[in-house]
Formats: sequence, C-alpha cells, structure tokens
Amino acid sequence: MQNILVTGGAGFIGSNFIRYLLEHEPTVRVINLDALTYAGSLANLQDLPSPERHIFVQGDICDANTVGELFRNHAIDTVAHFAAESHVDRSILGPGQFVQTNIVGTFNLLEAARQAWLVEKRVDPQTARFHHVSTDEVFGTLHPNDPPFDENTAYSPRSPYSASKAASDHLVRAYNHTYGLPVTLTNCTNNYGPYQFPEKLIPLMILNALEGKPLPVYGDGMQVRDWLYVEDHCEAIHLVIKRGIVGETYAVGGNNQPPNLEIVNTICEVMDEYLPKSAHSPHASLIKYVQDRPGHDRRYAMNISRIQSELGWQPRQNLQSGLARTVRWYLDHPEWVSAIRGREDFQTWMNNNYTQRGHKK
Ligand code: NAD
Ligand code: DAU
Repeated sequence: MQNILVTGGAGFIGSNFIRYLLEHEPTVRVINLDALTYAGSLANLQDLPSPERHIFVQGDICDANTVGELFRNHAIDTVAHFAAESHVDRSILGPGQFVQTNIVGTFNLLEAARQAWLVEKRVDPQTARFHHVSTDEVFGTLHPNDPPFDENTAYSPRSPYSASKAASDHLVRAYNHTYGLPVTLTNCTNNYGPYQFPEKLIPLMILNALEGKPLPVYGDGMQVRDWLYVEDHCEAIHLVIKRGIVGETYAVGGNNQPPNLEIVNTICEVMDEYLPKSAHSPHASLIKYVQDRPGHDRRYAMNISRIQSELGWQPRQNLQSGLARTVRWYLDHPEWVSAIRGREDFQTWMNNNYTQRGHKK
C-alpha cells in the first residue's frame, strides 16, 4: 500500500480512517476524493497526523474524468471506497441522489481501477486492492429469534439507501468475477464516535440533550441495532485490506444489540454524570416518541466470527466505554459542532424530517 485513494474521506468514517491510516502506516500517501456534500467537511480533517502525506481533492465520484485522472496522476494502488449517500431517512425523502452516488459512483471507480490496473497495468494487479465499505442493511431485517447476519446471508434490502448499497456490492463482486479485479468487501453494522454528522441517532441525541431539546425516538424505540465504535471499524478495514482474501467479504460488528431506547437512556445517564448541574438533568425526561420511519427495519445483528478467527480482529470498545468517549468528544468540541450545525442545509433537514413527524405519545 503506497498510494491509497480514499473516497468520502471528509465524512464520518472516512475521516476517522484517514487519521487511523496516517498513524499506522508510516509511508502511505492518502489521496482523499470527496465532493463535500452536506455530510462532508474539512473540519473533520483538522489536526491530522503527518498532514504532508494527505492530499485533498474536492470532486465527485460520479465524474469519470476526475476519477480516471486521479488513478493516472497518483499511481493509485489501493482504494478504500467510503463515499456514499448514507442516511436512510434522506433516502426516503429523496432517493435519486442515492442511485447516482452509490451505484453510478461505484461503477465509475470500478471502471477506473480496471483501466489502470488490468488494462494499462500501471501497478501490479497482484498487489493492488479495491476495498468496498458496505453495510449490514443490505441483508434486510431480522425477526426476534432469527440468527444474526453473516457473510452468507441472502440480500434483502428494504430502503432506497440499502437497495443502492446492495447494487454497489453486486457490482464490486461482478468486477472481481468477470475481470479479476482484486476486491475485498466489508459489511458493517451501525458506527458511532467522533465526527459523526449530527443528524444520525447518537450525536443527535447528545446535542439535543445538551440544549434541552426533545429527543425524538421513532415508533416504540424497540428497534435493535448492533453498534460499533468507529475506530474499531477502521482497524477492521485496515486489516482486511492488508490480510483479507481477494474476492472475499468480511462481516463486521460490535457484538451488542440494544434497542434504540436503551441507547438513548444510556446517553442520558452519561450526560447526567458529566453535567450534574445541567438544568436539563435528568436528560431522559426529554425523550419524545415521534412517528416511525416508513419501512423501518426492526432488528439487525451480525455474526463476526469469520473476521475474529481468520484475521484476529476484535472490537476494542464496548458500548459503555464507546458511548462515554463519544459523549465526552461532543462536549469537548463545541467549535466543530457549531461549524457543522450552522450550515443552512442542516437546519432545512431538521425541519423537513421532524416537523411532519409530530409526537406519537
Ligand atoms: P457520511 O455520510 O458521514 O460521509 C459520506 C462522505 O462521502 C461525505 O464526506 C460526502 O461528502 C462524501 N460523498 C458523498 N457523495 C459523494 C460523491 N458523489 N463523490 C465524492 N464524495 C461524496 O457517511 P459515513 O457514515 O462515514 O459512511 C461511509 C461509508 O460507510 C458509506 O459507504 C456507508 O454506506 C458505509 N457504512 C456506514 C455505516 C454507519 O453506521 N455510518 C455503517 C456501515 C457502513
Ligand atoms: O446499519 C448500518 C447503517 O447504520 C449504515 O449503513 C448507515 O449509513 C447509518 O446511517 C446507520 O443507519 P441507521 O438508519 O441505523 O442509523 P440512524 O442513526 O439514522 O438510526 C439509528 C436508529 O435510530 C434507527 O432505528 C432509527 C432510529 N432513530 C434515528 C433518528 C435519526 C430514531 O429513533 N430517532 C431519530 O431521530
């Protein structure tokens, strides 16, 4: 790994991954291609270790010329593909951009890699890697007694977001089977931690609680997710790129499955502890039940035994320690919070998503 193209590196997981990589790979050069949509920000890339090894390029993965030029100009030998539209609620209100970015954008990257590595042979295809970062949501939803998802679970996506991610996974595997493109994939569960855009559950709840605003729990709050601290996900991706088998998929998750309500209550308890004099304590009194997400998947869970036994990966944070770190990080970074939330598109989104929901009880 010498010149790695990271797509979506100004977003939540991508920026954490770049930080991780610069720390753990002392000679790698990172070329970060990001369109800086509402979800991406250069504020996520401040204070990088070894910033001289990070090159930021503002551009769209749907633009084939931009992508092709990057492969030619930077001798790219590795791709870590994070760029995506990633928010399920946004995919319900506006699915078109998900089809463009997640499917057409992934196709462009695969074509550029095929051209550079297999046709023009600019780098040795034996050492090149295209790593695709995907989600557990492609597998659909679980009933209470179903076994967790694993690498062999059949695809059954149920939202425009998960359907577009499923399509991109299929394209990545097709390029491996048809052309021999050296790919690996990870399907991961819900991430949380520093730099997560504050419209996702955990940062939204932390920041609303801080300001004494309602904590909007969808439906009955008993939907189950499997939560992984973002740095643990970065370590898993790094390991798969270095030691994973070409053509293979690795399921990644946190080995915990609390209902959403438990997550929100735990955040409130941590906030009560960190801010005992807050006028909003006990923060759990701010919980408000609101109208559910249409087609809301009830339960996700992941069997992570393959990556544990084959690559020796293990989540380092449990939910309690990861949430405590995350709450601390948001409390300690008010400038980042106001830069991100001050944007017009954030306020517009909050109005669009929550005003029509109302309170359920
Ligand atoms: P995010 O929404 O925080 O960031 C996405 C980044 O991609 C942003 O910086 C955005 O500007 C960039 N981007 C969007 N469209 C682009 C385009 N057309 N061209 C270039 N850049 C573009 O997302 P995230 O939560 O960091 O997720 C990253 C990846 O991980 C996604 O592929 C997502 O499906 C996957 N994933 C996320 C989670 C999670 O819990 N967040 C879990 C599993 C998998
Ligand atoms: O499972 C992996 C996926 O996790 C990733 O592929 C997605 O990119 C990522 O956004 C995440 O999807 P979710 O839909 O699970 O995340 P979100 O934070 O939007 O919601 C988490 C749960 O909390 C979900 O059951 C919906 C619920 N929720 C969410 C919000 C924003 C609420 O109850 N209230 C809210 O206001």
